[in-house]
Amino acid sequence: MEDILEHSSLPTHLAFIMDGNGRWAQKRGLPRIAGHQRGVRAAKIVLQSAMKYRIKYITLYAFSTENFNRPQSEVTFLMNLFRRSIKKYFKFFTKNDVKFRAIGDTSKLPDDLQQAILKLQQKTADASSLVVNVALNYGARDEIVHAVQQLLDSKKDHVSWQDIRDNLYTASTPDPDMIVRTSGEYRLSNFLLLQAAYSELYFLKTYWPDVTEQTFIDIIQEFQKRDRRMGRI
Ligand code: IPE
Ligand code: IPE
Ligand code: MG
Repeated sequence: MEDILEHSSLPTHLAFIMDGNGRWAQKRGLPRIAGHQRGVRAAKIVLQSAMKYRIKYITLYAFSTENFNRPQSEVTFLMNLFRRSIKKYFKFFTKNDVKFRAIGDTSKLPDDLQQAILKLQQKTADASSLVVNVALNYGARDEIVHAVQQLLDSKKDHVSWQDIRDNLYTASTPDPDMIVRTSGEYRLSNFLLLQAAYSELYFLKTYWPDVTEQTFIDIIQEFQKRDRRMGRI
């Protein structure tokens, strides 16, 4: 499937709403947490595919501000899974020149997870083959509030779009060319609302743990069929 690489339009940035872990597990009579475990594997496949097909930026929605409203046991499991996954894939990032960044209000995450995030961010700060943003306690509305507060603190009396952009969690990342949501839900669930202004949207029936390299190829082929007019004719 090398032909997708020869096509003139490869997306620069793909963002994923990794949904359907719970239903993937329930369908198999497994606890929801088994779906989250398999979800980490799917995320790794996506990152490997991104390297193979030369996509520069990947953003993964792993935990929303609203996900704190889930049962305590699931939240705790997820926080531990994130910490363990950062440890498990530490070498994957450093060896492959992949830059890791957490986006969202990470100050509300458990201390040990915050430390793991900081360590991986520091170790991969200069990596540039692929940039991976992982949205952890991310909410677009929280991001907007955070940006406005920073602008107020800076005492600016005139604000441009560039100023707002520079104060979003995604400041140094170009807007996503395409946002992909798995699991057959057709909504953004507070993900990248401002950055999505001109993103292509793609909704797949596949549950997140079932995502493969072929899914990734299908996504790029779908992107290559889209006509992005950006307001022009
Ligand atoms: C997405 O899968 C992962 C997170 C939100 C952490 P879900 O846990 O939302 O799975 P479903 O939607 O209940 O199937
Ligand atoms: C969106 O999925 C958040 C993540 C994938 C991390 P949810 O499962 O939380 O979204 P809703 O509740 O179905 O809108
Ligand atoms: Mg869900």
